[in-house]
Amino acid sequence: MKKKLVILSGAGVSAESGINTFRDAGGLWEGHDVMEVASPEGFRKNPALVLDFYNQRRRQLFEVQPNKAHSIIAELEEDFDVTVITQNVDDLHERAGSTNVLHLHGELLKARSINSYDAFEWKEDINLGDLHTDGHQLRPHIVWFGEAVPAISEAIEIVEEADFVVVVGTSLQVYPAAGLMDYAKPNVPIFYVDPNPATIPYMTNPVEVIAKVGSEGMEIVREKLVNRI
Ligand code: APR
Repeated sequence: MKKKLVILSGAGVSAESGINTFRDAGGLWEGHDVMEVASPEGFRKNPALVLDFYNQRRRQLFEVQPNKAHSIIAELEEDFDVTVITQNVDDLHERAGSTNVLHLHGELLKARSINSYDAFEWKEDINLGDLHTDGHQLRPHIVWFGEAVPAISEAIEIVEEADFVVVVGTSLQVYPAAGLMDYAKPNVPIFYVDPNPATIPYMTNPVEVIAKVGSEGMEIVREKLVNRI
């Protein structure tokens, strides 16, 4: 029976693929007002602006590739029962080969009606006037600020069952995602890979911070994990 490994990933894991993070210098939120482009209020006020913001991010996905951090995470499935719980809305974990990915904040390559949670694959731009069969405007299947995170209870249950937790590439500023590691059992080792790690609130768990970029840090973590099974 393989040990259960949970990977909690954020934008930093896709940085080496050329996708901007949010809060680093030059990050996405530096060029945009979050509430204008990533909130229900912003969408109601100026839907075309919001749709264009996500159209640009969706188009970029067709120009980038998974990086070594994504590949190592996928390869860990050989030795562990891996679940990736990601805040990212890109598809790079899946394209690197991860087979068990839970997107907390939605997916750029899915769309839904503004009147429903039922999402479906959508790889094109979404423009004003693109209607769902229910007659309502299509929107990106993205969790905006202030909206519920439907997958959070499933994510908590997964972390509660983990034997190991790896946090990679997140500034740990956005809840409830940032609080997920707190649900690990007290004796479960936690590894945090980030070149500029946020301060992890005090935890009884053994926490090891690896202040490296994802591709290097995940190599170090893989060594440590494989020596423990
Ligand atoms: N490798 C690993 N981590 C990196 C790298 C890299 N090459 N480059 C930067 N990082 C780290 C940064 O140090 C930072 O801690 O990635 C983290 C990125 O933090 P944020 O930009 O805040 O991204 P994230 O934590 O995923 O944001 C969470 O906020 O805006 C919302 O919904 C959005 O899902 C997002 C959520």
